[in-house]
Amino acid sequence: MSEARISPSLLSADPINIVAGAKSMKEAGADMLHLDVMDGSFVPNLTFGPQCASRLHQEGILPLDIHLMVKCLDWAVPAFLPYAEYLTVHVEATDHLHRVLQTIRSAGKKAGVALNPATSPEFLPYVLPLVDMVLVMTVNPGFGGQSFIPEMLPKVRRVKDMVRESGLSVSIEVDGGVTGQNAHLLREAGADILVSGSYLFGSPNAREAINFLRRGTI
Ligand code: DX5
Ligand code: ZN
Repeated sequence: MSEARISPSLLSADPINIVAGAKSMKEAGADMLHLDVMDGSFVPNLTFGPQCASRLHQEGILPLDIHLMVKCLDWAVPAFLPYAEYLTVHVEATDHLHRVLQTIRSAGKKAGVALNPATSPEFLPYVLPLVDMVLVMTVNPGFGGQSFIPEMLPKVRRVKDMVRESGLSVSIEVDGGVTGQNAHLLREAGADILVSGSYLFGSPNAREAINFLRRGTI
């Protein structure tokens, strides 16, 4: 089993000192920073805007893994694209996923597609050539600190099989309730990138916690 990349969720950082939270995760060995953008409509919570993404990008701490939980992609995709390494949209938010992914790719950025817990992955083969990352939500999007939904493990395995069958290079990211208790199961199932908010930011030793998520030892 290969080591996972770790993307700490800034949703769990101090909201009035996000740059400090981001720097602490870089020092602890994180690979990128997960920025949860919520619009108060697609999900019942409101978080970061493009100004915040711009500021983090300007700091150049780590590449930004931007997770759009918003309905209005016509606005949000161009607003966040300049700051993203990965820009991920929810399949449930658009009737035109293929076109949105084309837009992200044609800007030279890595495109991600996120699936809510109740969403089947069977549409994926039709868009995989335009995708760099599939984000399997392992909680309902909207809040940090929720419990991992174990029924998502077979979905991660199914997505892994689909990626293998495609022969394409597509990463699988999981997001929600990821802790030291379930990280090994997720890596075994095929997850390449683990997002973690409350577990990492609540840990007394973030470096050890990141290592433990990444490879099962500190
Ligand atoms: C939830 C967000 C997650 C969240 C994860 O909608 O997409 O990125 O911050 O937080 P934890 O790891 O606490 O479940
Ligand atoms: Zn997220």
